[in-house]
Amino acid sequence: MFDLIIKGGTLPEGRRADIAITGERIAAIAPDINAEAREVIDASGDLVAPPFVDPHFHMDATLSYGTPRVNASGTLLEGIDLWGELRDLATIDEMVERALTYCDWAASMGLLAIRSHVDTTPDHLNTVTAMLELRDKVKGYIDLQLVAFPQDGLYRSVTGRENLIRALDMGVDVVGGIPHFERSMAAGAESVKDLCEIAAARGLMVDIHCDETDDPLSRHVETLAYETQRLGLQGRVAGSHLTSMHSMDNYYVSKLLPLMAEAGLSAIPNPLINIVLQGRHDTFPKRRGLTRVKEMQAMGIPVGWGQDCVLDPWYSLGTADMLDVAFMGLHVAQMTHPEEMTRCFTMVTETNAQIMGLQEYGLHKGALASLVVLDAATPTEAIRLRPARLAVVAKGKVIARSSRGDARLSLPGRPEMIRRRRLD
Ligand code: FE2
Repeated sequence: MFDLIIKGGTLPEGRRADIAITGERIAAIAPDINAEAREVIDASGDLVAPPFVDPHFHMDATLSYGTPRVNASGTLLEGIDLWGELRDLATIDEMVERALTYCDWAASMGLLAIRSHVDTTPDHLNTVTAMLELRDKVKGYIDLQLVAFPQDGLYRSVTGRENLIRALDMGVDVVGGIPHFERSMAAGAESVKDLCEIAAARGLMVDIHCDETDDPLSRHVETLAYETQRLGLQGRVAGSHLTSMHSMDNYYVSKLLPLMAEAGLSAIPNPLINIVLQGRHDTFPKRRGLTRVKEMQAMGIPVGWGQDCVLDPWYSLGTADMLDVAFMGLHVAQMTHPEEMTRCFTMVTETNAQIMGLQEYGLHKGALASLVVLDAATPTEAIRLRPARLAVVAKGKVIARSSRGDARLSLPGRPEMIRRRRLD
């Protein structure tokens, strides 16, 4: 007797399978499981995928849009200024409440693992206290990984380094940084070296906001690759954004990409945010603000898509739907070949899980029983429709259900009908 069987669904790779769950684990996955279960979900014709994963978010700032006022210039730098005001006004309870609401949205969308940067700049570290409380509150359904993020610079802020260390001591999981925001290129490079050494000494992963600028001479990713290699951190280090790579000299990039691959770096572009934040100083042509996604993938560098922001000083929209992120990424990176569209779905599921180091992730026997049933036939159709999440299962429990988004039509000269958006 199983606790739950997901019957007749189509897995992302295209094969049909039943998934049987006992407790928190997948107990069996096979074409036809004929056994008793306490609950059966009929997923015939629907896509059954491992949960969505977001490797780049800012949970302390989310759902604060317009507080204390909107970002009029739309730039990264005005967003940083606004957040600098907000983080001292917001109480711990407020931040937890806003983030909990976001986590409700995420759960309803099948987004069950999130890496969130948490600002370690203010001496009160209320942001860190709030996010540690949140991590504990949602642990039954969302794996929340926290990154110590010195938003105002490791060195540019007087207590930047000290507070980052305090945050790690409080239990924050990953080491973050922002080298392009330090006072000089040299200070930025030094910060990357320092942060990688801190991570190596503590056995932690690294995720740096790296070169989030349109300046092609912002080359901190080179230092990140070098330090990763030097300290033996291969497979544990991610460069987020990497937008300056869009404007780098091609000869330089031809040297850089193999070094990144050799160092086992991962890359996390954030297409929704960077398509609106970058290129703001350009007239025409305006640069797209996205790093070299397909070129990195061709070198074997893991590239995932991140959400980054929802309703905060940097981004005025957002829904916690990683399919929105994949949809935008697919467009801006021009990933329109069938294989590339499918890969965009893999990027917001398996690749992001790999980047976050989630050991128990996936649809196989023994994995944590977390999955999402989508009103779509294939991964590509899921990106096209961004459809209802018919059921979301987290660690063996059904935590969300939605109904199909079908329309009832009454058209002149046509019989009454239900029109599905799906082609099947
Ligand atoms: Fe970010």
